[in-house]
Amino acid sequence: MERVTKGQNSPITAQKGGGSILGDRGHLKSPVLKSQFWDRNAHLYERLTKMRFRDALVPMGVQLTNVFPGEKVVDLGAGTGAFAVHACHRKGEVTLIDISARMLDFARSRLSGAGHQSKFKCVVGDFYDILKTIPDHSVDVVHAAASLMYLETDDELLQVLQETHRILRPDKGRLVVLNWIDLRGRSGVFSAVKNLVGSILFWGGVFLKNRGGLGEVFRTLSEYQSAHARGKGEVKPRYFQQEQFAKVLIEAGFSKEKINQKIFAGRKALATWVSV
Ligand SMILES: C[S@@+](CC[C@H](N)C(=O)[O-])C[C@H]1O[C@@H](n2cnc3c(N)ncnc32)[C@H](O)[C@@H]1O
Repeated sequence: MERVTKGQNSPITAQKGGGSILGDRGHLKSPVLKSQFWDRNAHLYERLTKMRFRDALVPMGVQLTNVFPGEKVVDLGAGTGAFAVHACHRKGEVTLIDISARMLDFARSRLSGAGHQSKFKCVVGDFYDILKTIPDHSVDVVHAAASLMYLETDDELLQVLQETHRILRPDKGRLVVLNWIDLRGRSGVFSAVKNLVGSILFWGGVFLKNRGGLGEVFRTLSEYQSAHARGKGEVKPRYFQQEQFAKVLIEAGFSKEKINQKIFAGRKALATWVSV
């Protein structure tokens, strides 16, 4: 993991504001558009992070990764650092990878503000390009929340998961992925009731965390959703079926027996955790 510096941007990404490195292999179809999209919307994401709107993913990531002191953690698509701050708190050594320099600016302030300056590194770039620079079997934990779903094809996803498999330690390495899910094909009364209960619990949680400020949550959320609608040519999130995601993991080298999956967070999210 040379080419990165502690608590600040990598030297290879010195151009701030719109700058992210572009892979020479051109792994992504439109890396510039993607980084521009996330740079442009980072302030909205930070607002949602502060409102703890997406909190459900964070405790799930913290619980499933179960970081021990001194473990090396890579956070793929770390965004504004909502998970990374917990991993640092648990004394992990965290590398935050993100295609958006702006997102990582917010993450850096969050982590430094919490007193973790010496425990993290930020690297701006595409998952695949940055993973390629990390030595074999050198990482204990890879975490990816709401980020791999922005890889547009199974092929892009496969390459990223293959690199992830390569860098994880064979003895205790583990990968935790949290994604929004496609619930089509799961209709039926039982499922509908579970979805309704899940949604009530989820929105009840959002309400309790943001008493008095719920209007602000909805406003920010709708701005964020409109940004996605306008940015269709830049980012196209994919909502996986759980079997489909497991299939790509197996193709990437993970063993079927070690894959665990659970649907959670208002029944809209899928947690997948797998050990090497
Ligand atoms: C929805 S946000 C999730 C952020 C964070 N994981 C969280 O849960 O709060 C998705 C993040 O993935 C990053 N991202 C998307 N595609 C990427 C890619 N190909 N390489 C690196 N980062 C990427 C975006 O810049 C953005 O910060």
